[in-house]
Amino acid sequence: MARKLARKRVAVLISGRGSNMTALVEAARAPDYPAEIVLVVSNRADAAGLATAQSAGIATAVVEHSAYRKDREGFERALDAAIRTHDIDVICLAGFMRVLTTHFLDRWPNRILNIHPALLPSFKGLDTHARALSAGVKIHGATVHVVAPGMDSGPIVVQGAVPVRDNDTEDALAARVLAVEHKIYPLALRLFAEDRVEVVGDHCVIDGVTGPRIIPFD
Ligand code: GRF
Repeated sequence: MARKLARKRVAVLISGRGSNMTALVEAARAPDYPAEIVLVVSNRADAAGLATAQSAGIATAVVEHSAYRKDREGFERALDAAIRTHDIDVICLAGFMRVLTTHFLDRWPNRILNIHPALLPSFKGLDTHARALSAGVKIHGATVHVVAPGMDSGPIVVQGAVPVRDNDTEDALAARVLAVEHKIYPLALRLFAEDRVEVVGDHCVIDGVTGPRIIPFD
């Protein structure tokens, strides 16, 4: 009989509503899911996702960046300490609105994932849906990547694509992309937690295949 591998212990970092965190928590309820969400950390005490996590019985912590003012290293040291007390294997950024520096990243090499609401490397940063509409792209989407230094940078694990429709509004496009985010983040974490993702230079090799995975929707 194959030995059942231990599920990876995951911390999800949020700053707001936490719908991607919820998608990960729901996926992890499946008995065969290879990861469990054991901790949710927010850099803002008023993040709505904290209550959602608590009601799901998940430990939460708040490490407020504002308490550290310009001391980014101090903030990242406190964040690291909060995570380490829970024996964490993988960190998932899910709407976490701080750019992490190498001070933090070097402590978690290739163990941090992020979700970004655009098909990277297009539209890094904020307001991705408005920028996609004004650029006139015909396909938009979301990306889960391994976190490397720099904003929204690092090897791509999974991408999900959506069409941009005639007369789309920013809200309609955002909702279409968010539905995809909730599918690709659990998928990417599954691949990662099953040790099927190998980071080779700037790329993720998944099951021995180089190149991003693009999942088309309708
Ligand atoms: C998502 O669109 C995510 O891609 C981006 O921030 C948003 C967070 O939403 N990084 P939520 O808090 O997961 O609902």
